[in-house]
Amino acid sequence: MHNMKRITWVKLFFLLLICKPVLADEGMWLPQLLEGLNEKQMKSLGMKISAGDIYNINKGSLKDAIVSFGGFCTGEVISDKGLVLTNHHCGFDAIQDHSSLEHNYIKNGFWAANQGQEIPSAGLFVSFIIRIDDVTSSMLARLKPGMTEAERQKIIGENMASVSQSVKKEAHQDVLIRAFYEGNKYYLFVTETYRDVRLVGAPPSSIGNFGKDTDNWMWPRHTGDFSLFRIYAGKDNKPAAYSPQNVPYKPRKSLAISLSGVKEGDFTMVLGFPGRTTQYLPSFAVRQIIEQNDPAKIAIREKVLGVMDAFMRKDEAVKIQYAAKYASVQNAYKKWQGEVLGMNRTGGLNKKQQYEAEFVKRINANPGWKEKYGNLLTALEQEYEALKPYALARDHYSEIIPRIELFSLASKLSSVIAATEKDGNKGQAAALEGAKEWMKSFYKEYDAALDQKLFAVLIEHFVEQQDKSFVSPALIEWTERSGRDYEKLANEVYASTNMDDKDHMLSQLEKDPALKIYKSDKAAQLFEQLSATYVNKVLPQLTAIQGRINTLQRTYMQAQMEVFAEKAFYPDANSTLRLAYGQVQGLQARDAVKYDHYTFLDGVLEKYKPGDYEFDLPARLIALHKSKDFGSYGVNGRMPVCFIGTNHTTGGNSGSPALDAQGNLVGLNFDRAWEGTMSDLNYDPSICRNIMVDIRYVLFIIDKFAGAGHLVNEMRIAGR
Ligand code: ARG
Ligand code: GLU
Repeated sequence: MHNMKRITWVKLFFLLLICKPVLADEGMWLPQLLEGLNEKQMKSLGMKISAGDIYNINKGSLKDAIVSFGGFCTGEVISDKGLVLTNHHCGFDAIQDHSSLEHNYIKNGFWAANQGQEIPSAGLFVSFIIRIDDVTSSMLARLKPGMTEAERQKIIGENMASVSQSVKKEAHQDVLIRAFYEGNKYYLFVTETYRDVRLVGAPPSSIGNFGKDTDNWMWPRHTGDFSLFRIYAGKDNKPAAYSPQNVPYKPRKSLAISLSGVKEGDFTMVLGFPGRTTQYLPSFAVRQIIEQNDPAKIAIREKVLGVMDAFMRKDEAVKIQYAAKYASVQNAYKKWQGEVLGMNRTGGLNKKQQYEAEFVKRINANPGWKEKYGNLLTALEQEYEALKPYALARDHYSEIIPRIELFSLASKLSSVIAATEKDGNKGQAAALEGAKEWMKSFYKEYDAALDQKLFAVLIEHFVEQQDKSFVSPALIEWTERSGRDYEKLANEVYASTNMDDKDHMLSQLEKDPALKIYKSDKAAQLFEQLSATYVNKVLPQLTAIQGRINTLQRTYMQAQMEVFAEKAFYPDANSTLRLAYGQVQGLQARDAVKYDHYTFLDGVLEKYKPGDYEFDLPARLIALHKSKDFGSYGVNGRMPVCFIGTNHTTGGNSGSPALDAQGNLVGLNFDRAWEGTMSDLNYDPSICRNIMVDIRYVLFIIDKFAGAGHLVNEMRIAGR
């Protein structure tokens, strides 16, 4: 009996060390640490596999089936012939690149009937994670307390170079080191990157992007947001540049597909490459985002969208030219609105303040902490206060100046001049070649009249809506001269410049490679002056304050982990491989409005608007619905389409697999519900939901809609 007591003490000690309570749903966890931190809870939520089945460096594990898709999305290998599944909006550039009026793959979809028809996609790559090592101690070597952020970064850079060099890896593998927990920890990734990636299949965008901007970020959702690619390798299965001799890649692991679906409450997990979150900001920093920066950026984008929309409605050609730009401006515009709304609805600031009050209380009760961390929040608050005007100026500049495309041109020409100054004729030749290539695709999607209107509307905003000291004196003078009539000003600028004329510019570049013309162009001069004002009046302060904030945030992160030692912390997203887990769950979106967790093909038909830009449907899909010809993919005469869950995801998780308790593929992540997009700042399980397309809908579209059953045949269906 007394023996038992001793064991209990020892046990308790380890329990305290190991079993920190992990919040259900919230978190983007490190795959290599699941066993210690999360496995127990994941099993209690229903997971049937082990942490070692997800991340294992000694045998094929789930992580070996996951790729960073082009660095901006996620994809997963779903056959032993290197077939990769990702979102339609992730593969869109490749689909668009190969589309023409005769072969309009955007409109009609594309399906390779055999491997010979698969289309190489230059520039596209996928990266696997081979291994993740903790390199914190070598990365933090030689750092001294009290260093400035710049001094610190210099040493970190040197340490990074030496760690990268000494790492054990094969010749074809790469090394990547990333900071975690605001630079309190560093992990090294050994990766393998394949650059021969070919387009295999994509549904028409009336399925792959059904609902377009109206439905973007929205639940209930009815989009078949998927596309298929294949990884090709050299004969030795190693990465190789594109060659017709390359062969389909043989993966260490491919995902098995489950056709059983998931019910409300079922365990799910999402494994992928989330881009960026900021969960550990203090309340006053978050207040600045939702009260100052988000609204400022929303107001600017509202104007951009208004101009684009008016021109796109008038002219079908402009509509095609600007479709992708419009979608990308709209995407963040809508997300920020949801973010502000969600923070307010969930009392997010209040929750942060309570957390800080508890932090201060604990610090004050512990002399050691009080000495180290007593001034931390006050110092942070002062720095964020100092940051305020510069952060706003940054938003005005970065949301407005590059959006005026005449300035993008000016910036390109300016970089050619800079290259000439740096490397003489040799630098010039290379930069000129690059600029010409860039211009060819630039002008394809450029409408000078639209751009002139954007200039008028956005420059008015730039001058009138911010502190004059951040606007260039030259621009102020010019505006005054034109009587603050911005249409007139825009007219003068666009009448005086030749940059908006493609043929003129391209022939000018041949005649005048030193770009003398650029120096006398008024629009170009204006761009130079605007950027000089930004570089002199905003950037230095912004960089200095942000550097001090980074140092303080690093200490604050460390302090939170020390002071709330009972809690498990996950690091903010930084485009590295993470696992989120939660469950399938409906959504109480607002008072009296409750959403189901599943949508069906019937709902797609309910939204159908013949001929509409967003809600039109292919006749074949309508026919399949009518005849209820769902093959083995339907359930009780209905075809499941999308579902939602509490998995904590963000941009970059697009294309990530949704896996069930057995680790089988049940869906494909592609969005979040609008009400909960504040999960990037403060996750709240009451309204944060990720949106996934059901794998059965994906297979139904491939097999029954497109008649590409040969692709389904190469997949591994669990239980078959
Ligand atoms: N909102 C999703 C994401 O953040 C999808 C964006 C692509 N779709 C669109 N309609 N713009 O990236
Ligand atoms: N659509 C996003 C993406 O492209 C994923 C949605 C989100 O932000 O969670 O990565």
